[in-house]
Amino acid sequence: MHCKIAIDGPAGSGKTTVAKLIAQYLGMDYLDTGAMYRIIGLFLHQLGLSPKDNSLEKYLEDAKIDYKDGHFYLNGRLVGDEIRTPEVGMYASDFASHADVRNFLTRMQKEICKDRSIVAEGRDIGTVVMPDANVKIFLVASPEVRAKRRYDELRDKGIDVTYEELLEQIIERDKNDSTRDIAPLSKADDAIEIDTSKLNVQQVVDKIIEVVKERCML
Ligand code: DC
Repeated sequence: MHCKIAIDGPAGSGKTTVAKLIAQYLGMDYLDTGAMYRIIGLFLHQLGLSPKDNSLEKYLEDAKIDYKDGHFYLNGRLVGDEIRTPEVGMYASDFASHADVRNFLTRMQKEICKDRSIVAEGRDIGTVVMPDANVKIFLVASPEVRAKRRYDELRDKGIDVTYEELLEQIIERDKNDSTRDIAPLSKADDAIEIDTSKLNVQQVVDKIIEVVKERCML
């Protein structure tokens, strides 16, 4: 039996750290769907396109994303930290509301998640990408806690940002991501909500592993 774990939540809720650790601990594959929206957001922005453009389909045909050994390649080139800046986060969030972008990436994500045990994280994993997941987790935390986490993370990577600009962007992205018409950020009815504001990473991981062991009979 394959074990499918969906981890959703807003920016900075701890999805990436937690999802990676769970995948590692259980020896499962891991998919960061936000990275795919970032790759496409940057790609379309560099072409001078806007999320308001009617059709983006023909441009998306020129974006070949490969996912190998946990790394993404765009048209054969390894994707690195250039997609991790707050600006690219905004492009991702803006273009993520476009139906062509969502269809393109959802199709690809469903294909990647098919027939394997996997931990996938994003905004619509439990609702759209893997509605049949064995375990659905929805992580939340206050905007201030999330902005502080992003601040520490980006500063560690040498990316120059201020806490205030991150807090502003987190609030704006939350609004964008939860109010868009297609596949908005929302908790699946059968998802378990965990507030990570006052928990450390290990505590969140332990809680999730407990549910996984029960549901996937590990
Ligand atoms: O997880 P992240 O912050 O790297 O994601 C960047 C943006 O991509 C996020 O603001 C909204 C969009 N996204 C989405 O719409 N659906 C997903 N499954 C993952 C990300």
